[in-house]
Amino acid sequence: MLKTAILASGRGSNLRALLEAQAQGRLPNVHFVCAVSNKPGAPALDHAREFGVPAEAVDHRQYSSREEHERAIVQRLRAHDTEFVVLAGYMRILTSYLLSEFRNRIMNIHPSLLPAFAGVRGQKQALDYGARYAGLTVHFVDETTDGGPVILQRAVPILQTDTEDSLSARILRQEHIALPLALDLASRGRLIADGRRVIIRKGESGYPELEKDLHAVEPLLVATGNQHKMQEIGQILSGIPLRLIGTNSFPETEEPVEDGSTFLDNARIKARYWSGQTGLWALADDSGLEVAALDGRPGVHSSRYAPTTIQRNARLLAELGDTPPEKRRARFICTAVLYGPGGEEYAETGTLEGQIAFESKGEHGFGYDPVFIPDGHEGRHLAELDEAAKNKISHRARALAKLADTIHSLFTDSITREET
Ligand code: GRF
Repeated sequence: MLKTAILASGRGSNLRALLEAQAQGRLPNVHFVCAVSNKPGAPALDHAREFGVPAEAVDHRQYSSREEHERAIVQRLRAHDTEFVVLAGYMRILTSYLLSEFRNRIMNIHPSLLPAFAGVRGQKQALDYGARYAGLTVHFVDETTDGGPVILQRAVPILQTDTEDSLSARILRQEHIALPLALDLASRGRLIADGRRVIIRKGESGYPELEKDLHAVEPLLVATGNQHKMQEIGQILSGIPLRLIGTNSFPETEEPVEDGSTFLDNARIKARYWSGQTGLWALADDSGLEVAALDGRPGVHSSRYAPTTIQRNARLLAELGDTPPEKRRARFICTAVLYGPGGEEYAETGTLEGQIAFESKGEHGFGYDPVFIPDGHEGRHLAELDEAAKNKISHRARALAKLADTIHSLFTDSITREET
């Protein structure tokens, strides 16, 4: 067990992320021995107490020098047999006194891609500079300001619409993933400092699904475990500065309950849920068939209209009976929602208009495709079109293409915008 102390000066969300990670069993080799703040009223101390970690303030204003203050801190750390220190929003520069006591055993998190934008408000510095990417760095602490050997970094793209607050919020969500992950590596003896470089040894991990992303750009989680759908979405979204991963990267996370009354509700439930569970951007869609003569049924219940696909199609044909062709209008609808870790939300809907046939026909596709005749395809049933043809006109392809445009403009408009 790595006896770890956390130093924090402020609101303590990173400290909390560490304690929550441990409560979820993610940090099995860490024992949090104490939390220390230089600010007596820091909320960070309350978070620590809530999790049963001894928390105390060592008020720097009561000491005549930095070193005196640090001596008092080290005394507390020693009293708890501290072996490792995490700075989680600790707003004091360390002196060589504390550093020499814990050489290569102090870790800090900073909200920028170091060495760019060290010091205060790294997020704002990146924004003001016009950088395309902001991000975070977890690093060992040395005598320099935010300059010690880098353990891991994650890039967070800057959106055209970003303010300091929105960008900081997205970076913070990534911080809450990165810091526990880095501490997990340290606690397993997997971080080897080699001059300025930190070697990460192969080995066991509390974060197997995230480790392969250690140094990568912020991922976009697509709420599907279907490889085929991933590929299709990958093609539609190619060029955006996020990397796609599927829900199968999170095998322990359960699926959300989709109890919305519209496609938008359900897509939103999924996107918000997955973003909330993972701290990542999440993309989800929900789709179904609306039949005019049935007042829009089966609608959001499309996949639950009957137990099997064959039974669903049979039920639909039976309900319509001999309703004449002009009264068999129907459409497939898909709503896709992108939800960002900073609370960003974008939604787009795509439709495919047509009518319900009198019988099932065709071998391609799935669901209601055999009984659906899309407009403008010479009366052929959707299941008679091959996959490539269907993917060009499908409601999902249309929703995603619109969303892709939104995403592209979010990330790239500031680069390609016309002079006005
Ligand atoms: C974080 O942005 C961290 O990167 C920086 O200080 C901030 C602390 O936030 N070093 P919190 O107190 O953990 O919420």
